[in-house]
Amino acid sequence: MKIFLKTYGCQMNERDSEAISAQLIRAGHSITGSEADADVMLFNTCSVRDAAERKAKGKISYMKKMKLRNPALIIGAMGCMAQRLGESLLAEIPHLDFVLGTGQLHRLIPLLEEFSARRKRFAAVEPSSDVLEGMGAHLYGNFSAQIAITRGCNRFCSYCIVPYVRGREISRSMEDILSEARSLVAQGTKEILLLGQNVAAYGLGGNVNPPPEDHSPFADLIEALDGIPGLLRLRYTSPYVTYFNRRLIEALAHSRTACRHIHLPLQSGSDRMLKAMNRQYTRESYLGYVERLRSAMPDLTFSTDVIVGFPGETEEDFRATREVMQHVGFEQAYVFKYSPRPGAKSATIADSVPEAVKEERNQILLADLADRIARKLAAAVGSTVEVLTEGVSARNPGRWTGRTSGNIVVHFEPVPGLEAGTLRQVKITRAGAVTLFGTLI
Ligand code: 5AD
Ligand code: SF4
Repeated sequence: MKIFLKTYGCQMNERDSEAISAQLIRAGHSITGSEADADVMLFNTCSVRDAAERKAKGKISYMKKMKLRNPALIIGAMGCMAQRLGESLLAEIPHLDFVLGTGQLHRLIPLLEEFSARRKRFAAVEPSSDVLEGMGAHLYGNFSAQIAITRGCNRFCSYCIVPYVRGREISRSMEDILSEARSLVAQGTKEILLLGQNVAAYGLGGNVNPPPEDHSPFADLIEALDGIPGLLRLRYTSPYVTYFNRRLIEALAHSRTACRHIHLPLQSGSDRMLKAMNRQYTRESYLGYVERLRSAMPDLTFSTDVIVGFPGETEEDFRATREVMQHVGFEQAYVFKYSPRPGAKSATIADSVPEAVKEERNQILLADLADRIARKLAAAVGSTVEVLTEGVSARNPGRWTGRTSGNIVVHFEPVPGLEAGTLRQVKITRAGAVTLFGTLI
């Protein structure tokens, strides 16, 4: 069958879709980018904000016209929204054939084949830990690849739907991760991105927070991955700040491959908001972690996630967030306007900050960020940086792009014989709004 697969949401969803595509191809199906060509349309959905759900739901509803044209067409919804809504999504969208939850993704192929034979609509949303080892397939062929090392989350931040739709946190075995990494590297992968809702909690078995200073299975994993010859770079996202204990910081500082960039979700700089969000740190302790990380690795860059307009957020709370962001000097930030998620704890309190105020705060943080990035990039002009080459620039076919260990994108003119996935030195000649320009040396 020809399968059209559309993905919404985070990198974990992108990775799940990649594994599913690889499994489908291995089972003799093919992936098509054309909706009109498809025998099967799959939507891997997201629930993290209301807008993400509305987008996927709107698209699936709109596909009714495809089904009118081709009644044999099979349409399935998978992932987080599918998990959250289950049977009720089948009731809401009569032309939807099946719903596959986050714990059942590894069963897509047998369930799809059964549906194709019997045409009996179904919702499979039972939680199952089998999905953990059942989603290891890759498409291969890229210099950069992603490996999911944990699934689910145990932190229960009050605004977040993830623990409910992706279940409790579970970690894969180190041997499985290492063998997946080795086969990727054997097929040309140079950079691996480790994925998890809270990667740094890898292997801790649930609820230890903060973990003891000298124990970090995530650090053990990084050291083991360091030992794979041919692997040039290791990235990971997202770690929860309180898991950066002494053991992990030392392992990162001594790692051959771990990049000098950490995505460190802050969410808010106000202690009052952090408490209401059920985040397990204060402004001061967060800054303490950043300081310890920086003193071990002075060239670290940081990015973050921030929520504006959480219920009860005052001007003063917002000012605290702005200050912490300036203080840390994040090189990149994803700012989200609070969106109540039915099922998450904060949805029981009124969404009290008006949309216009959320939008204003969002714009202020983005403007701060733009200023800060412009200053940092301007300061890099004249320096020489090492990049991992990524290939032809999406914007300008005459240029190539690469990325520094600190996750800054650099554009440069290619030379004959240049390959993607190699480490090269670039002399920086000019700064753009969010990227750098330079010449290969
Ligand atoms: N509203 C707005 N942003 C949210 N996030 C998670 N839940 C919500 C919500 N209900 C943001 C957090 C998280 C990122 C992936 O999405 O900042 O780190
Ligand atoms: Fe959601 Fe918090 Fe878990 Fe991140 S750490 S997935 S924000 S509950």
